[in-house]
Amino acid sequence: MVWYLSMLIFILAGNAAAALAAPTWDLGCHGHDGLGSTASHLLQRTSRMLRSASARDAILQGNEIWGCGSLQIPEVPPLVAAPLRNITWLHFPKAGTSFLATIWNYACSRRMALDLAVSPRAVPGCEQCYDVALMDRYPPDDYCEEGFLSQNFSTQHRPVTSSAVQSDELKVIGMFRRPSQRLISAFHDSCHASGLAEDQYKVLMQECGPNGKNSAGCYARFPGIAGCMSRMLTGGFCAETQFAESSFDGGKAHLEEAIAMVKEMAFVGLTEYWDLSICLFQRMFGGTVNAAQLVDFHEGDSHQDQLYDETQLMGFVDEVDEAIYQAASDRFHELVQ
Ligand SMILES: *[C@@H]1O[C@H](CO)[C@@H](O)[C@H](O)[C@H]1NC(C)=O
Ligand SMILES: *[C@@H]1O[C@H](CO)[C@@H](O)[C@H](O)[C@H]1NC(C)=O
Repeated sequence: MVWYLSMLIFILAGNAAAALAAPTWDLGCHGHDGLGSTASHLLQRTSRMLRSASARDAILQGNEIWGCGSLQIPEVPPLVAAPLRNITWLHFPKAGTSFLATIWNYACSRRMALDLAVSPRAVPGCEQCYDVALMDRYPPDDYCEEGFLSQNFSTQHRPVTSSAVQSDELKVIGMFRRPSQRLISAFHDSCHASGLAEDQYKVLMQECGPNGKNSAGCYARFPGIAGCMSRMLTGGFCAETQFAESSFDGGKAHLEEAIAMVKEMAFVGLTEYWDLSICLFQRMFGGTVNAAQLVDFHEGDSHQDQLYDETQLMGFVDEVDEAIYQAASDRFHELVQ
């Protein structure tokens, strides 16, 4: 993993060749200011991981990825970029709308560099819509290369089906986020429930929203909410509308198929490792990195740099999505190897 971080730094410095030549990478932390020059370089970047004082301290104090000192860079694998076509974005709600910058940079900026830093408020009537704003500024028909995006490419929260993936015609890519964090974020985004029937959404808001219990735990327990990733990986919407006879199983029935899908996806990233995920994407599929890919353009009003306090869920665990997240994390680490 460390290798990719180094690679990213070099790519951003426009000097990928140097990375290949360097067997070790000095992460600094012994300079006159306590920060080595490399750490300083990292800290100058606008990245979602690097914005708050506490995030900076976490980097400088180091852990597995961001450690200080001199790191042995493992054997540098040859660049094995394979072109990615027919891109289908599996976009779980609250799991990184800014990832569209990476897709647009890859698929739509071959002829000219795009300014990817558009405001999520650029399109009237849409307040938190980086995707809408970016596509409004650079419409796919005008900018994107033929065949790069799938015919029905969508930035909204459309599910995928295993038949589409197995047919090999669609290449499904997506970012995964820790289920408890995703749920809390969705709660704070007006009890986000894409796919829930309107009358059930009203009940959800009454019971759990700001004028009800105002509780993420209530939201996460509401029938139809848990197991979002499980459903979206298997042709269903994030939230599941309940009918009279239904007994909500939190996505359990789809778990096995969903995990199989994770293993078949063309690319799996984790929002918790944003920069590394972007780096991995570039390594797998080629192209150059635009620094804007590392920016979070889509902070909601309740955004915070730290993780949400998960006690808000009052003990609720989304067991099905946790299992899927584990599979996504395994796949991610496998791809990073
Ligand atoms: C795109 O959507 C149309 C209409 O829903 C459908 O007929 C077609 O098969 C889809 N194409 C792909 C590649 O999924
Ligand atoms: C992309 O999908 C279309 C069908 O929508 C298919 O005809 C084409 O072969 C696919 N391209 C690649 C490179 O897989």
